[in-house]
Amino acid sequence: MSFDGYKDEINEGDTVILYLTITQVYSIKAQPKIVNKKGNEVENVFQTPYGALKCGELIGKSYGTKISLSKGWGYVLQPTPELWTITLPHRTQIIYTPDISMIILQLELCPGSMVIESGTGSGSLSHALIRAVKPHGHVYTFDFHEVRAKTATEEFKDHGLASYVTVGHRDVCEDGFGEHMTGKADAVFLDLPHPWLAIPHALTSIKTTGGRLCSFSPCIEQVQKSCLMLLKLGFQDIQTLEVLQTQYSVQQRSIPVINLDFVKAEKDGSEPEKKEREMMKTVTGLPPASSPGHTGYLTFATLPPVWCRSLQISLNEEDILTSVD
Ligand SMILES: C[S@@+](CC[C@H](N)C(=O)[O-])C[C@H]1O[C@@H](n2cnc3c(N)ncnc32)[C@H](O)[C@@H]1O
Repeated sequence: MSFDGYKDEINEGDTVILYLTITQVYSIKAQPKIVNKKGNEVENVFQTPYGALKCGELIGKSYGTKISLSKGWGYVLQPTPELWTITLPHRTQIIYTPDISMIILQLELCPGSMVIESGTGSGSLSHALIRAVKPHGHVYTFDFHEVRAKTATEEFKDHGLASYVTVGHRDVCEDGFGEHMTGKADAVFLDLPHPWLAIPHALTSIKTTGGRLCSFSPCIEQVQKSCLMLLKLGFQDIQTLEVLQTQYSVQQRSIPVINLDFVKAEKDGSEPEKKEREMMKTVTGLPPASSPGHTGYLTFATLPPVWCRSLQISLNEEDILTSVD
């Protein structure tokens, strides 16, 4: 249950993060036994590049403990949405931390916010949304893939987060978010192949006092259709952006030191006192040789309060669907 706030000790059933190096981070279960593919109960042993770890032995240890492996060591850490995102079992493409941070900031989420998300996918974003809105807010997340919706429900329960999130199994483009969601949301987030079909449902789900919407799309054609739909429905402040993380490499480099003797000698035609070139070692940050990979475009928009929602642009459905074909 360690996703819901801090605790000192690892209990049986906890999801624990095993941190070996910055690129070798894993999530494991602190339980002594697991059922293998043949249906037999066996000892729960996690194989790492530095040796095997008996997961049952973590029970009772403190979070943050350094644990010894046969060929090295690691640390057992509390799970956070950030660590979960880099270690979770992928059932779909997921949203990563640089995009997630922008989404949470731009959707203006805070404790108490009501947020709708679709699709749930692997629950990467959902975990961060839950942390942002709890303890008094709620995440309503929808996916039309029955197994994904069921697995996410079980995962949230297992992580002690069930009271902050409700998983709905439905096609949000066809059926919207449900009657019960009308006028309930402060924010709506869409990660769908056809987000423009869900935007009209977002309109009815956002509070009468207004709210924010975000749509994540990998392709610019999806963005165009979504923006046209947003315009048509009276959304304002429509903005599409891309978050590109640039990782600098920190390296030691030798650079020549300017020899003022040379400068002086050149000016007055005299012999420089020191003739040899001096080099200085320095630590520097080098930008990457290639640009970072594209994940997706984030389109944000504001739905104003009902009493100032008059600015609807007259585009018909056909304009939207044919505009970029
Ligand atoms: C890319 S995944 C979402 C990943 C998620 N944002 C995460 O960070 O883990 C897209 C999900 O949308 C679901 N989906 C696609 N179309 C849908 C629709 N019309 N209604 C509900 N869910 C839908 C898919 O089943 C899939 O699980």
